[in-house]
Amino acid sequence: MTEETSVWTEEDEKKLTNRIWRAIPVVIAGYFLLLFLTVGALYAYWNRYMTVPEQPINFSHKIHVFDNGLPCSTCHKLFEKSSTAGIPAIETCMSCHKSVAAGKPEIKKVRAFWDRKEPIPWERVHNLPDHVLFSHKPHIKAGLDCAACHGEIKAMPVVKQVRSLEMGFCVQCHRKKNAPLECATCHK
Ligand code: HEC
Ligand code: HEC
Ligand code: HEC
Ligand code: HEC
Ligand code: HEC
Repeated sequence: MTEETSVWTEEDEKKLTNRIWRAIPVVIAGYFLLLFLTVGALYAYWNRYMTVPEQPINFSHKIHVFDNGLPCSTCHKLFEKSSTAGIPAIETCMSCHKSVAAGKPEIKKVRAFWDRKEPIPWERVHNLPDHVLFSHKPHIKAGLDCAACHGEIKAMPVVKQVRSLEMGFCVQCHRKKNAPLECATCHK
């Protein structure tokens, strides 16, 4: 090696310093971009899976299914296409709560809807976009458990969506179970 190439000159020093200075804004911008993407992704995830709508009555599946042993079908008649789309009418509640726990504050709220002849305005938790065709019937006929798509509802004091219900979720199981995969199966 010659002396020329091995000597670290002042020129090199300057070049290096320049480079470092120029790199700083890039690093900072990269840092903020990463932060922005992480926060964005967390926010989207939270919005989609973790937010639980405020319900008009503090209704607990745990009390009804786990503690008192009611089967899902007492309240959800998913084979029928009713106006309440699988959510029980207030008559179902009152068939027990005219007497059961009638003095409790939450039951008095149910009673007030009943007396005003109003349905309870439940908020939807699971909601597919309008362009998707879905029916419970073929799934329950095929012997699938509610938990395959809804998780352990019976243990939930408040219903939460725990599966994505995105296209990949549906298609993955359809492929595994030899169910139809044509686009028209699930899309109008
Ligand atoms: C005593 C009546 C009752 C029983 C029994 C019951 N449910 Fe429900 N369920 C409701 C009511 C009322 C709602 C609407 C309020 C809410 O979301 O908590 C609901 C909501 C749901 C939802 C969310 C619907 C939406 O808006 O997307 C699912 C899923 C569900 N129930 C599944 C089940 C399963 C699975 C079982 C059995 C393990 C069951 N339920 C038993 C009354 C009942
Ligand atoms: C088959 C009978 C039955 C049906 C139908 C039923 N429940 Fe209940 N519910 C019960 C029993 C049993 C309890 C527990 C009562 C207790 O522990 O004092 C209960 C408890 C409750 C509680 C908690 C009361 C408290 O503060 O302790 C609420 C709220 C409630 N039910 C709302 C509803 C609503 C709304 C519906 C209709 C979607 C409904 N129930 C349908 C039997 C029923
Ligand atoms: C193959 C997946 C799958 C299975 C299995 C399943 N569900 Fe659902 N469920 C869904 C989807 C998806 C929705 C949302 C439908 C929509 O938005 O049109 C839904 C919605 C609901 C609703 C809201 C009201 C309605 O009818 O849309 C209730 C209540 C419900 N399911 C209860 C049950 C119960 C009880 C069982 C078991 C007997 C069950 N589900 C089994 C996927 C499933
Ligand atoms: C855990 C497994 C599983 C998941 C998840 C699932 N499916 Fe299915 N699906 C089935 C099975 C099994 C059948 C019955 C196939 C048969 O009868 O041959 C079926 C049948 C259907 C049918 C009726 C097809 C026909 O023409 O007979 C439609 C529509 C459908 N599914 C839509 C959906 C949609 C939309 C989703 C997602 C929101 C979904 N499925 C999620 C297993 C699943
Ligand atoms: C087993 C059911 C199923 C089948 C089969 C299916 N899809 Fe979907 N698809 C869905 C569901 C559920 C959604 C809604 C996802 C969501 O919540 O945004 C969806 C959403 C979409 C969207 C909207 C964009 C998106 O990802 O949300 C497009 C486009 C689409 N599907 C195209 C197709 C095409 C093309 C085919 C055939 C190759 C097909 N799908 C087959 C269930 C299905």
